Amino acid sequence: MQRSRNGRSDPRRPRDGAAPTRARQRAYAIAALPEGEDLGELRELLKTAGVGVVGQAVQHRERPHPNTYLGPGKLLEVKEALKGADATLVACDDELSPRQERNLEAELGVPVIDRTAIILDIFAGHANSAEGKVQVELAQLEYNLARMRGLWTHLERLGASASQPGIGTRGPGETQIETDRRLARDRITALRRRLAGVKGARATMRAERERAHLPKLAMAGYTNAGKSTLLNHLTGATVGVRDRLFHTLDPSTRVWRLGGRDHLLTDTVGFIRKLPHQLVDAFSATLEETVDADLILHVIDASEPEEETAEMLRAVDEVLEGIGAGGQPRLLVLNKADALDAERREELHFVHPDGILVSALTGEGTEVLGEAVEREFRRTLRSVELLVPYAEGARLAELHELAGALERTDTPEGVRVRVRLPAQVARRFERFSALHA
Ligand code: GTP
Repeated sequence: MQRSRNGRSDPRRPRDGAAPTRARQRAYAIAALPEGEDLGELRELLKTAGVGVVGQAVQHRERPHPNTYLGPGKLLEVKEALKGADATLVACDDELSPRQERNLEAELGVPVIDRTAIILDIFAGHANSAEGKVQVELAQLEYNLARMRGLWTHLERLGASASQPGIGTRGPGETQIETDRRLARDRITALRRRLAGVKGARATMRAERERAHLPKLAMAGYTNAGKSTLLNHLTGATVGVRDRLFHTLDPSTRVWRLGGRDHLLTDTVGFIRKLPHQLVDAFSATLEETVDADLILHVIDASEPEEETAEMLRAVDEVLEGIGAGGQPRLLVLNKADALDAERREELHFVHPDGILVSALTGEGTEVLGEAVEREFRRTLRSVELLVPYAEGARLAELHELAGALERTDTPEGVRVRVRLPAQVARRFERFSALHA
C-alpha cells in the first residue's frame, strides 16, 4: 500500500465503487521496471477495477523481455509463487505485445491481463455520457483488434497459408477469427463516424462560445489530483467527486466568475503514466478542449511525496505534448494544501516557486489562484480607444459584457470608451477605433 510521507494512509483510499462481480478476482501482479520504481500504481489500478492483489513480483531490468516480458529465471519464480498464491489471473504493469501475452499465459497457466486492459476496463466502468461510452468502446475494440491479429499471425505461423493449409489450422476457428475481425472493424468504423458527429457538435458549441469571447481555461492533471473538486469549488458546480481513479471521463465546462468577467472552466479526463494510446486517440475530441484553451491549469496532488509529484507532472506534460497542447500557457496549481505539513510546504515553495498552493476542500489559496488567472489574461489584453455612435447601443452593451466597467465619455459623435479587450475581440471593434475618428 502506498503511504504518504507522514505515514498517513493514502488519501485516495478507500476505493469505493469497485464492481461487486469482480470481488472474487485475485491478481498476482508482475512488472519489469527500472531500478527505484515500484508497483504501487498497478495495485491502485487493480483495486479501482475491483480486483484483489494476492502477490507480486518485480524484475528490475532495462526493458521487458521481447517474448515473455520477464526473463526466464524470474518467470520460473513467478510460476512457483503462483502455486501457493490463489490467484485467478496475472496482471502486468505494461502493455504486452500479443506474443508476450500468449507466451506468458502458456507458461503460467492462468489468464494474463495487461495495464492497458485494466485501464480500459476502469474507463468502461466510469463512462457516463453517451460520448464517453462510445470513446471507451472504440478504444477497447482497437485494443482487441490488435490482439485478434496477433492470434491470426500465430495461426499463420503454424502453417495455414491460403494454398496449403496446415493440419488443424483451417476451418471454423479461422473463419471465426476473420468474422470477428470484420465485425470489429465495422463497429470501429460506425463508432468513429459517431464520434466525428460529436466532434462536429462540439465545434459548433465552441464556435458559439468563441463568439461570446469568454476566456477559456482547461484543467489538466494526473488522475485523483482534485480537478473536479476544484472545479466545483471555483464555480459552485456539482461535478461528481469520488475517491477513486478516473472518476471524470466526460469533460464538464462551467462558468467561473472572476473579476467581474465570466471565464469558461473545463475539467478534463485524468491523465496517468503510460496512458494507453488507444484512449488518447478515442478521447481526442474531449482532449481538444485542452488544446483549445487560452490557459491550462495543471493541477497536481501536492500531498504526495515530491518524487511522486515529479513523475505525475512529467506524465501529464507528456500527454499534453502528445495532443499538441505543449505550447499552451500554463499555471501550476498545487492542490490539497490542507493535507500538508510545514516542511512539505517549504519544499514545494522551493521546488515549484511559480506553483500556486490551494486547497479545493477548504478554499485556501483559491483567491490567489483567481488573481493569477486574471493576471495571465490581462497580459493578453489590448488597450483600445473606441468611438461608438449612439445608434450602436447594442455594441456598447456588448463591450460592457466583455470588459466589465468602461471608462466612457459622451461626445456629440457618440460614446468615447477606453477599454482593454482580448486581441481577437479588439479586431472586431476596429471600425470604431477612435484613431480614425
Ligand atoms: P479524476 O476524475 O480521476 O481525474 O480525479 P480528479 O482530479 O477530478 O479528482 P477529484 O476531484 O475527484 O478528487 C479526488 C480525491 O481527492 C477526492 O477524494 C477528493 O475529496 C480529494 N481532494 C480533492 N481536493 C482536495 C483537497 O484540496 N484536499 C484534500 N485533502 N483532498 C482533496
